[in-house]
Amino acid sequence: MLTLNHITKKENFTFYVNCDIIIFVTRGMLSLENGGKEMTEVVINKAILSYHEANRYETIFQGEGLLGKKEHIKNVIKTSLAIADFKHSNVDREFLAVCAEHHDDGRVDQYRLLGKFWDNVVTHNALGLDRFDQFLLGLEEFTIDQSVNIFRDVILYHGRMRLANLSPESKEYVEIVTAADDFENACSCVSYLVHEVETDAKGYISQNPEADQTEVSNFVFDHFKDGVKFDKMKYCKTYAEYVLFAATLATSCIKKYGEIAKVALQQPGYGYDTILAGYKDVFRKTLAPEMAEEAYKVLASMIR
Ligand SMILES: [Fe+2]
Ligand SMILES: [Fe+2]
Repeated sequence: MLTLNHITKKENFTFYVNCDIIIFVTRGMLSLENGGKEMTEVVINKAILSYHEANRYETIFQGEGLLGKKEHIKNVIKTSLAIADFKHSNVDREFLAVCAEHHDDGRVDQYRLLGKFWDNVVTHNALGLDRFDQFLLGLEEFTIDQSVNIFRDVILYHGRMRLANLSPESKEYVEIVTAADDFENACSCVSYLVHEVETDAKGYISQNPEADQTEVSNFVFDHFKDGVKFDKMKYCKTYAEYVLFAATLATSCIKKYGEIAKVALQQPGYGYDTILAGYKDVFRKTLAPEMAEEAYKVLASMIR
């Protein structure tokens, strides 16, 4: 889907591994490749590096309930780097990868506490921040610098940027991780939405047993159609609205990233010939028939 397969850095060299081609570039050359923009190198705080070592995603996302999140993190790291390149962003790529890797660490604690991922009970953003802060407090000493502030902002505000007046330094990192997160969720959700609805994984039925779960407000449908993200916690009251929220991640990605998002949604994945075909199936299984048809028309017309 996206061409950047792997990026790693050693001393002064950055290795891009893209299919069979390995390109070695120095930092100076990299800035030329980056639309002429110099990258703003960030010295990563030692405390973040220790936290990173102690919380690698392959290690902390263990067990049946968390395995999907492990895959999610792997994809968000890769997509964050691809989006940074696509935008010719000047963010430090090594630090961006670290921020992307830990943006959802709070899911580990959320799952331990609740056995599910219910942000309306306790948000994984707050839990992730607490996890990092507890780690800091357990150290002999640490200093707060720009990298710590950015790292904390990514954990707390990814997906919720409108809530904060972020510093210019943090803004770009939070924005890229949020976009990669949306992108990844917009594609991968076709693999789990039906199961979530069938098992009441988000609690909409248990919290409101009387509600018609296929009902969709005009507000939600219009935002989906216009590709404008909205606050899921505030406006989703039924599974149909929750499914359309996921689809809004796709329409907003198309609006924001155009071709790159259209290509992604036309790639095979998660057992479907295309992600778009996955959406068609999910709509058919979770929405009222007329709404399913209407929603698919909106999405398909944006892609073709
Ligand atoms: Fe998240
Ligand atoms: Fe995420």
